[in-house]
Amino acid sequence: MDTKILSTTSENIKLCAKAVKNGELVAFPTETVYGLGANALDATAAEKIYAAKGRPSDNPLIVHVASMNEVSAVVEKIPPIAVKLAAAFMPGPLTLVMKKKPCVPDTVTGGLDTVAVRIPKSSTALSLIRAAGVPICAPSANLSGRPSPTTARHVYNDLYGKIPYILDGGACKIGIESTVLDLTSDKPRLLRPGGLSPEKLREVAGEIEIVQSGKVALCPGMKYKHYAPKAEVLFSAYYENMAQSICDWYDRLSQSGKNPVILCLSQNAEKYGDRATLKVGRTYEDYAHNLFADLRLADDRCHGVVIAEGVEDGGIGSSLINRLVKSSGGRII
Ligand code: TXA
Ligand code: MG
Repeated sequence: MDTKILSTTSENIKLCAKAVKNGELVAFPTETVYGLGANALDATAAEKIYAAKGRPSDNPLIVHVASMNEVSAVVEKIPPIAVKLAAAFMPGPLTLVMKKKPCVPDTVTGGLDTVAVRIPKSSTALSLIRAAGVPICAPSANLSGRPSPTTARHVYNDLYGKIPYILDGGACKIGIESTVLDLTSDKPRLLRPGGLSPEKLREVAGEIEIVQSGKVALCPGMKYKHYAPKAEVLFSAYYENMAQSICDWYDRLSQSGKNPVILCLSQNAEKYGDRATLKVGRTYEDYAHNLFADLRLADDRCHGVVIAEGVEDGGIGSSLINRLVKSSGGRII
């Protein structure tokens, strides 16, 4: 199959919407990462997603809709807290897990009786959903286990030959995935930190339970290998003198021929002298925006090891820590 990268003209969006209605897969931009979309009410179409990504079938998909009205098409009963959260944060990088309606196939929910729903902010994503006239289930559009794609080129590199169309909306604004919040128990439970910080969530939702990774995987996807480039990733803990330890690791790895690279904030680059660096920008938001792209870039430049600077917990920092711990497979230095 040939894979076409299409600009986001209304003709191309219509073409892709038609493909979705016909049971085909279409990759599309959202403000978080690129999604690999299919008609969420068509089990056969959803199965194609798992095949294209090499994704385990017990890892459920997020259902994307264009408005709160459409949420009720897939959710049994929308709890009052969901209405409050939606008013504050949707469209945006928040995914809510609620009891599903029978029309949502088991293939989409990995056999669970709940469904994860999100309203993306990207105008291309919204136009595609509206034109398709059906909810669109979509995981991140990467091969399973790889860093999530934040450009159309990343999707192309992973899924060339496996899907017909990629809508190219440029680089994703946020760069890491949505925050997943489970609303099916008494207290809202944060299953995956993401583009919306726990602090912001608490302002509206009150107390929320943070599900520790390492405990039972409530967000089924979080138990699998994730966000891994070909290079080995080492993630530094955050402390005052981390640059010194990062330099020591770099020099040892360099001597053993590993061609390492340091992922760092631009303002810290001078601490690493003439060692190879990839600068992620000046803020943690920049770090989130560039993280997945830079992990892929490190592979393109044949670095054998990426040493990623640590960040302070809190805000988008918690989401960065989550992604980097997973990306490193727990190799914390
Ligand atoms: O920003 C995002 O969320 C992107 C864009 C494309 O929307 N999507 C995304 O999808 O990151 P994916 O499949 O890579 O991650 C979805 C996560 C997985 O960890 C999955 O296990 C969890 O959401 N999830 C989906 N349905 C669930 C459910 N019913 N209960 C608990 N977790 C669920
Ligand atoms: Mg993913």
